Amino acid sequence: MKEEIPNIINEPPAKNSLELRKKDEKYGFATLFLSGKQLPIAIKRGKGAVLEDLDGNKFIDFTSGIAVSNVGHCNPYVIDAAKKQMDNLIHISQHIAHYETHTMLKEKLAEITPGDLKRSFLCNSGGEAIEALIKVSKFYSERDAFLGFMGAFHGQSVAAMSLSASSSEWKFGFQPLLPCVYHVPYPYCYRCPFGEEYPGCSLQCMEFLHKFLDTVIHPYEIATIITEPIQGEKGAIVPPPEFLPELRKICDENDIIFALDEVQTGFGRTGKMFACEHFGVAPDLMALAKGIAGGFPLGALVGKEEILNQEMGHGSTFGGNPVSCAAALAAIDFILKEKLPERAEKLGKFAFNILNEVKEDTEIVGDLRGKGLLIGLEIVSDRDKKTPSGKLAEKIREVAMKNGVLMVGQFGKNNIRVIPPLVIPEELLEKGLNILCDAIKKVDSEVRK
Ligand SMILES: Cc1ncc(COP(=O)(O)O)c(C=O)c1O
Repeated sequence: MKEEIPNIINEPPAKNSLELRKKDEKYGFATLFLSGKQLPIAIKRGKGAVLEDLDGNKFIDFTSGIAVSNVGHCNPYVIDAAKKQMDNLIHISQHIAHYETHTMLKEKLAEITPGDLKRSFLCNSGGEAIEALIKVSKFYSERDAFLGFMGAFHGQSVAAMSLSASSSEWKFGFQPLLPCVYHVPYPYCYRCPFGEEYPGCSLQCMEFLHKFLDTVIHPYEIATIITEPIQGEKGAIVPPPEFLPELRKICDENDIIFALDEVQTGFGRTGKMFACEHFGVAPDLMALAKGIAGGFPLGALVGKEEILNQEMGHGSTFGGNPVSCAAALAAIDFILKEKLPERAEKLGKFAFNILNEVKEDTEIVGDLRGKGLLIGLEIVSDRDKKTPSGKLAEKIREVAMKNGVLMVGQFGKNNIRVIPPLVIPEELLEKGLNILCDAIKKVDSEVRK
């Protein structure tokens, strides 16, 4: 008989998960669980869009391990490629010699990325791809300044954190960070920093950017303008269609490198292979990671010939590990063969219809947004005043978990992300969304009591 999923047999968090958590609390870096971001359960195995904890509970995964497992957990095609590679070579280092999977992956990235991105540097994570991006930008342009956007998240290293501006809590205690980094408002239309409403706003945020370049920092001093095409960590904030083309234009007119961080949005997540394709623009540099290798650690900085064809000090012992590269080649092949971007687009529309209903039926979903299967819900305690409520968001996440659905939250903030593996069967997605909707309704009715 086919097992029902989700299957909750011991109310989570249950005994075995809690015991492991206790050990983690003793031996681990406390910030992970103190931040409240980490769910209090311990995962034993994953298959497709299903995760099982140490207590035998089976959950529908709406996290993909933070937008990583686009091809599903333990995808057999990826496992097979990784195992074959492990029988031959696990490590040599790109600094020592060439190896096939490394070269083949760089060739593949040149083929699948938009525009004229012809060369890659391979590393281990998104943050490392951003580090490389920062160094390459400075070295190539011989300029020092970076311009990024409020709400952006680019990683946890000191330099990547410097470009980020999603939450000052991430930065608290670490100032001064990298100098000459400027942030301007992102087109966060639900909470427009200028109090306007799109499309009647005549894009005040772009006006502001132009004024900023007129008065605060000369464009000729800016090495790179960097943005996520859709802000991920901040809850899937999609900019208006004019935003990226306008940035591209500013960069072209002032010889500024236009960089996109597609770490979270890449590899089919938003309904296109890369999110910038929704907006008809291609960058000069692109940072990739997360969904690139089906769950194996890998990052990549992909760039134009002239920018990455230079000798400078940079590298990584483990970067572009042979097994991760083999897994990435298999994952990319799978994404293309199974048309996962198209699938994400179709399932995203299906999910939006269901979530839109709960938004209408309740008072606590302030905003519902995203593209493909990168979906964000902003939870508020007062819809008219748009009062953010991290507490209600956490409560929804907790109720959904207890009923068998796992979701991503953000550092105690009020957004919830729905980011399932792109291979999730439609019935499972529907079941998971219904559980999420019930959780929202339950929390909503408690608020109104
Ligand atoms: C857009 C974006 N850039 C960079 C990073 C950092 O990636 P990593 O955690 O692999 O260093 C993240 C991680 O969430 C991200 O969402």
